[in-house]
Amino acid sequence: MASDVELDRALERAAVRLATARRVCVLTGAGVSAESGVPTFRASDGLWEGHRIEDVASPFGFQRDPRLVWNFYNARRANVRTVKPNPGHHALVQIENRWGDQFTLVTQNVDGLHRVAGSKNLLEIHGSLYRTRCTGCQEVVDRGLETLDALPLCHCGEMLRPDIVWFHENLPVDIWDAAQMAAHECDVLLVVGTSAVVHPAASLIPIAKRGKSPGATVIEINLTPTEASSFADIGLYGPSGQVLPKLVERLGALSS
Ligand code: OAD
Repeated sequence: MASDVELDRALERAAVRLATARRVCVLTGAGVSAESGVPTFRASDGLWEGHRIEDVASPFGFQRDPRLVWNFYNARRANVRTVKPNPGHHALVQIENRWGDQFTLVTQNVDGLHRVAGSKNLLEIHGSLYRTRCTGCQEVVDRGLETLDALPLCHCGEMLRPDIVWFHENLPVDIWDAAQMAAHECDVLLVVGTSAVVHPAASLIPIAKRGKSPGATVIEINLTPTEASSFADIGLYGPSGQVLPKLVERLGALSS
């Protein structure tokens, strides 16, 4: 983590840059929900620890053992039932309120916490824990966070799966196109709480950097530097639930 003085200076630079941005885009990952009590993926006690990704987050794993996959997702849904958005989620809503339709929040998270916090211009590029999708008729239904049968069936008789993008699957085309456009057009990209190792999500960072001339300013908010850091113009290293509210406070102070 950065020293208080370093963080303070970086916050000032970030607020000054943000204040003059016309369009703002944000990319979030699991770290933004960590302070709410949702485990991240790659930490030593993270969600992938003890699971082979291929078993619980790939179409092949689902074909092999759908019961195991549904047990994994029912446990994630049960966890999310018990948590609330944290000050980081709320700060992003305040940023959206200032920029309105010139603001886009792209999230890799499937926990729905940005929506619960009140984010509106939101692109959930990896899907949502709330929704099921039929493997037969493809109908997508919002089921909330109820615990489903170990092998839930659609009214058409086919098996339901989580409406989540798994490894070896493509992102939903419309949502991904909108995310790329938002990254390309923005003047500032905030990269919050992601290890930036999963593509294509992480490619939004170079897309923003090489986007509309002269390229976006990239501000990284994370506990530590990551794969995104080589693109970052400003690094705010600390918990996003503390750093984002401070950034909003600085922004407010600049405009008053
Ligand atoms: P990771 O678990 O890979 O990374 C979480 C990041 O959050 C790390 O860089 C941590 O340092 C950071 N972090 C942890 N706590 C934080 C806090 N309080 N404040 C700020 N940062 C914090 O999660 P993602 O990058 O989201 O995909 O992973 C990307 C994708 O990989 C996920 O969407 C998921 C996963 O496989 C699918 O399931 C398709």
